[in-house]
Amino acid sequence: MSLPSNHPFSLEYTSNPRSTFAEVHEDNRFLHIEDLGAVAVHGYDAVRAFCDHPQMTRNFAEANLGDPEAMAARAARWPTLESSMTAGAGTRPGEGSERAHLIRDLLAPDFRPGMIKKMASTVSEVVSRVCSPLQSESELDVVKLVQEVPLIVISKLLGIDEATRDSQLFLTCAPDYFRGINPIAADSDRDKAEAGAKTMLEVLGRAVENRRSNPQTDLITQVIEIADARGDVDPEDVVRSLVILVAAGTDTTRLTTSLAVKTLLSHPVAFEQMREDRGLVGNAVMEMLRYESPTKYLVRIATEDVEFEGQTVPRGSLTLLSIMGAGWDPRVFENPEIFDPNRDLKGSLSFGFGAGYCLGVHLAKLQVSTLLDYFLDHLPSTATFDESQITWEPGNLFLREITGMPIHVR
Ligand code: HEM
Repeated sequence: MSLPSNHPFSLEYTSNPRSTFAEVHEDNRFLHIEDLGAVAVHGYDAVRAFCDHPQMTRNFAEANLGDPEAMAARAARWPTLESSMTAGAGTRPGEGSERAHLIRDLLAPDFRPGMIKKMASTVSEVVSRVCSPLQSESELDVVKLVQEVPLIVISKLLGIDEATRDSQLFLTCAPDYFRGINPIAADSDRDKAEAGAKTMLEVLGRAVENRRSNPQTDLITQVIEIADARGDVDPEDVVRSLVILVAAGTDTTRLTTSLAVKTLLSHPVAFEQMREDRGLVGNAVMEMLRYESPTKYLVRIATEDVEFEGQTVPRGSLTLLSIMGAGWDPRVFENPEIFDPNRDLKGSLSFGFGAGYCLGVHLAKLQVSTLLDYFLDHLPSTATFDESQITWEPGNLFLREITGMPIHVR
């Protein structure tokens, strides 16, 4: 049975949700998705308000609404996966915000712009190496071309030595893990993800141990120093915080870049403008995130009935916040269908809003703009792609997962 075009798991909504935006933006209507017990929100004001609302939690356990037997069965079958997924949010009622603060405290210092600037040469070296086929091949798949960039960058950031077996293990286990984080992943994918999560914890655990005895100027060393200075941090939380970082920073960046190339090739005038004036790239990255968001939804649970401008999200609802819908709300972003690298993007929600705001925003912008610069340098403007050959994985609730985009380079 085919799903309605506004259903989160339909191919149409995943690949091109604009018809849904047109349907709901006029009166800011919430969409009730009965089979998921979910409410999908697309208007800018409501998305922004619910991102950081006192009655909207990111912690399923805190809401105390899940079927406890089903949750216990999942935790028994996939213990590492389940505990890694709830690490940032806490697993017991009341624990959520304290735990989330701890994780932010551990990770935040390394994401100051100054630190990220130092990463510029590393990112540039990784991008040039991984994307070099763009200079010689006549046909290639953009999604596959860029997919390793964020993983390699983050493993360098974490201080995992590329020459070691752990680096290979890390690059192999991370994608398996990501596939299983999806709340509706098949059991077989969860089995693989459980193994992936275990390997990832082992690799990161070894990296932490290594840095304890051999401190360096890298992220792990700093996280350890912060944890030691606090004196109240469970060593497992140090490793878990790194897992969260990897999970939050990899697929988002990979998908952003693939979608950015799609936008670039669909807008030859803007493409040439950017090629001529690289000063536009920084703002263009934000406009690309608005125009083709890698995020399908930020997910919350309403802990009470939540009223918003005459509509209600019932207690216990899975609340799906469409960042892309917010970026296409014509009340806030005029003529949203126009891709404009000069657009004023103040108020953009592409990196979230409020307490959960993206910790990797500077690294993300650095990676995407470096990749974009590389494409502007090496992709001829005669390059083309065929929309019908793009493939998607519609069953991802969090991300608009583009899985393949073959392009004809020259
Ligand atoms: C273009 C790429 C990226 C996009 C579009 C993006 C977007 C977001 C968004 C929308 C959130 C808020 C989630 C929520 O409120 O539910 C978030 C959170 C987060 N992001 Fe990013 N992100 C990107 C790259 C990165 C990178 C590279 C890292 C780190 C290496 C990172 C680390 C994080 C972390 C740790 C959080 C969670 C913060 C918390 O839970 O308190 N992100 N990101």
